[in-house]
Amino acid sequence: MKDLIDILDLTTDEIDALIEKANDIIANPDNYREKCRYKKLATLFFEPSTRTRLSFEAAMYELGGNVLGFSDAGSSSATKGESVSDTIKVVEGYADIVAMRHPKEGAPTIASMKTRIPVINAGDGGHNHPTQTLTDLLTIKRELGKLDNLTIGLCGDLKFGRTVHSLIQAMVRYENVKFIMISPKELKLPDYLVEEVLKKKNVDFIETESLEEVMPQLDVLYMTRVQRERFFNEADYIRLKDTYVVTPSKLENAKKSMRILHPLPRVNEISVEVDEDARACYFRQAANGKFIRMALILKLLGIE
Ligand code: NCD
Repeated sequence: MKDLIDILDLTTDEIDALIEKANDIIANPDNYREKCRYKKLATLFFEPSTRTRLSFEAAMYELGGNVLGFSDAGSSSATKGESVSDTIKVVEGYADIVAMRHPKEGAPTIASMKTRIPVINAGDGGHNHPTQTLTDLLTIKRELGKLDNLTIGLCGDLKFGRTVHSLIQAMVRYENVKFIMISPKELKLPDYLVEEVLKKKNVDFIETESLEEVMPQLDVLYMTRVQRERFFNEADYIRLKDTYVVTPSKLENAKKSMRILHPLPRVNEISVEVDEDARACYFRQAANGKFIRMALILKLLGIE
């Protein structure tokens, strides 16, 4: 495997190995400080990002490597009309590995076909976000000790939320995982995931609009932001944006062992009072993102 474009580019064994490696990095950071000496990561971000880009950069620095790139399409030659294919052919002369985020679905795939260096999809439109999924899996494993026999509630914008799409593709491969999809009708999961993934694989799932009703069943509550930038009109966004707001009182009948994840950024979906609840683990999740990306960079560069 040269690139990570889709979470399905990795087998479950490879995912488990990355999680194990990330846990080892967390336990023994000194063993990894020189691993990527003289290597360069290019971060090509044609769309806004805080966590994904900074955690990639921090990951490369912690491995002793260097980072170059841009964080805004406006500051790159994309504004002059340069194609992704040309950009990547230029960047391969400067870097050993690339993390790319792009508003167009499939842009990282095109880039990966045009270059010999590894390309990591750091989010392509409303499609996929495999490194967020690796972060989520590491977090669930660390918080709950397992990735199987879980009931996972996915709540919010299931239509445009690329983190949800990649997470479902990954989690259906573990034993006895049940999904509860919680969203307004307008933001339901795309048909291709329902038909081609959930139904085809006989995965146990239900769709509902009520978070309160299903709360007591959940082992994981995965909250998401309504993806404003993917809406065609602002009025729909405003109408739907505050459909779900998790507050301490709504958590009263949740399991004590439940964990609340959120890929972040949060807008209004989780009130700040919830941050004090031991079940809230989104900031730990964001921190985990650096370690799993370290493990991924090592794997793609073929460094033991
Ligand atoms: C997510 C993304 O970019 O898809 N953010 C992230 O990478 N942590 C989620 C979001 O933007 O809502």
